[in-house]
Amino acid sequence: MTDLDALFQARYGDPDARAPEARSDVISHLLAHRSVRAYRPDPVSDEQLTAIVAAAQSAATSSNLHAWSVVAVRDPERKAALAECAGGQAHVREAPLQLVWLADLSRLHRVAEGCDRPDAALDYTEMFLVAAIDAALAAQNAAAAAESLGLSLVYIGGMRNRPEEVARLLGLPPRVFAVFGMCLGYEDTARPAAIKPRPPQPVVLHHETYSEAQQAAPLASYDQAMARFYESQGMAVRGTWSVHSAKRVAGAEALTGRDRLVEALHNLGFALK
Ligand SMILES: Cc1cc2nc3c(=O)[nH]c(=O)nc-3n(C[C@H](O)[C@H](O)[C@H](O)COP(=O)(O)O)c2cc1C
Repeated sequence: MTDLDALFQARYGDPDARAPEARSDVISHLLAHRSVRAYRPDPVSDEQLTAIVAAAQSAATSSNLHAWSVVAVRDPERKAALAECAGGQAHVREAPLQLVWLADLSRLHRVAEGCDRPDAALDYTEMFLVAAIDAALAAQNAAAAAESLGLSLVYIGGMRNRPEEVARLLGLPPRVFAVFGMCLGYEDTARPAAIKPRPPQPVVLHHETYSEAQQAAPLASYDQAMARFYESQGMAVRGTWSVHSAKRVAGAEALTGRDRLVEALHNLGFALK
């Protein structure tokens, strides 16, 4: 068994899994991802941040528009305030660095203004989506780069619980929205995180046309793989992955404040036509 076989087994929660012959160091690196929620206080250096942002900027960007930005937050008070916005997540306070990834249409507004040209397209949902996608692609490149430097991370979607408050804390101009945060730092190895299984590939990979039918059996085995994972981690999770996921989409109250996202986006200068 190779190291990549072991990664495949962990990634799919399947002791019989074997890696395909198509192999690379990058694939091994990506398969080893784990969200980390316990950090040592050791800082992330400016050199590391520069390298991580260069990796982020190397992601593809829609029409070369660069409709994203990122705010690096190290100040303990600002981190604590962001942690509260994100539902009191302790790791936002504890991680030495919080990167807040922004869908940023304010720069294009200024660019158009500088050229004395109209920018009415910025008011359409399409442009908001362009900016959010750009931010996500940049962030995931940053995540992979950070992990390659021995750092760890966890995304913080909780940053969307109170968007106007986050915008105020970060001094965001109109047409800028914090899509998610990202805790960065060195893992506290006394509280290690494990590789979390993903569903078998037929759940996500379709050939030629989409199939609902092919997903039922592998989703049932994913429930079992996640049950084994929770047990191995000593996590007292009630119900299966399916039940847990169903609860997450049960209604507006499950959205932890994000049910008013359209209103918040309007307040932040996105017309979303
Ligand atoms: C956009 C996004 C937002 C997330 N928000 C949070 C969050 O607010 N808090 C948290 O602890 N984890 C958050 N996560 C981490 C996910 O829970 C995690 O990626 C998922 O459970 C899979 O685990 P893994 O990353 O360890 O493989 C987020 C992940 C993504 C992609």
